[in-house]
Amino acid sequence: MKAVLIREPGGPEVLEWTEVEDPQPADGEVVIDVAASALNRADLMQRMGLYPLPPGTSPYPGLEVSGRISAVGQGVTGWQVGDEVCALLTGGGYAQKVAVPAGQLLTVPKGISLVEAAALPEAVATVWSNIVITARLQEGESFLVHGGAGGVGTMAIQIAKALQARVITTVGSPEKAARARELGADLAIDYRTQDFTAYGPYDVILDVIGGQYLERNIRSLAADGRLVVIGLQNGLEAQLNLAEMVFKRISVHGTTLRTRSAQQKAAIIAEVRSQVWPMIENGAVQLVIDQTLPMADAAQAHRLMETGQHLGKIVLIND
Ligand SMILES: NC(=O)c1ccc[n+]([C@@H]2O[C@H](COP(=O)([O-])OP(=O)(O)OC[C@H]3O[C@@H](n4cnc5c(N)ncnc54)[C@H](OP(=O)(O)O)[C@@H]3O)[C@@H](O)[C@H]2O)c1
Repeated sequence: MKAVLIREPGGPEVLEWTEVEDPQPADGEVVIDVAASALNRADLMQRMGLYPLPPGTSPYPGLEVSGRISAVGQGVTGWQVGDEVCALLTGGGYAQKVAVPAGQLLTVPKGISLVEAAALPEAVATVWSNIVITARLQEGESFLVHGGAGGVGTMAIQIAKALQARVITTVGSPEKAARARELGADLAIDYRTQDFTAYGPYDVILDVIGGQYLERNIRSLAADGRLVVIGLQNGLEAQLNLAEMVFKRISVHGTTLRTRSAQQKAAIIAEVRSQVWPMIENGAVQLVIDQTLPMADAAQAHRLMETGQHLGKIVLIND
């Protein structure tokens, strides 16, 4: 098969579409003939050599795919060769084939094409596992998501809205603010010109920025507020005001989906299938795709994500 190899740590030019060995299904796994994969910001970090991979991870980037099952390993039940699926991966999605534990497979939701489905698993599983399983977002609560125009952000706005939270988001332009409101945000704050702390307090904050926002996140949380940090785009370190945490009974979580065990991923995927797939199938949650490019042009797709001009997901397709 062909896959996108990271020749050495560096810029988008180090990505090479090249011939590599086919994957084989281990016990409990299937192999998918990949129709499409989608970009995640972690792929850029991996390309730059800044993302330590969990042991045993495929060297090729790509945290999600869609496609057809082409081989089924020992012990897999409920899935057959030819089934159309999408899947959450620990890596290896930028390829023509990928092996994945069967617990990380999802059917393609009704109304979504096979190619589009590639853009769902990572964002949906990230949002669900953090705002529902970790932060226990409740109906009527106030929810702030930073980066509401990104792949995770566009999904977080819609899922939180479907859970009947009040949704506030930060974005980097008036156009992105307008799109965030269309997706259901009650308020979209331009982080370049406005201060999000002025619009709290928030019960739950999903943060993709890290150090730069920690102090303001804590300050703008309500009593019993929950902060979940999932991205470190602007800083690994910051000072934490413990008094503010203690007196407001605040909890701060840090999570990554990728480093979770296959069992934990399967449990999240099972909830996604039962709770979020109906939201997608009834139109409450829409997929936001910015652009679709050939898999061989992964370098161009990375450049596009690095400009920050995209809105929603960037998809890579196999011809
Ligand atoms: N821990 C996990 O399990 C996990 C899983 C998935 C993703 N993530 C993390 O989540 C983040 C988003 O990932 P993604 O794939 O959705 O990337 P993405 O599509 O590139 O989204 C990144 C977003 O960050 C926003 N942003 C940049 N600077 C900002 C600032 N100062 N204030 C507010 N927002 C700002 C951008 O907003 P504008 O475009 O409007 O400027 C953009 O929407 C990444 O950091 C990624 O590593 C973590």
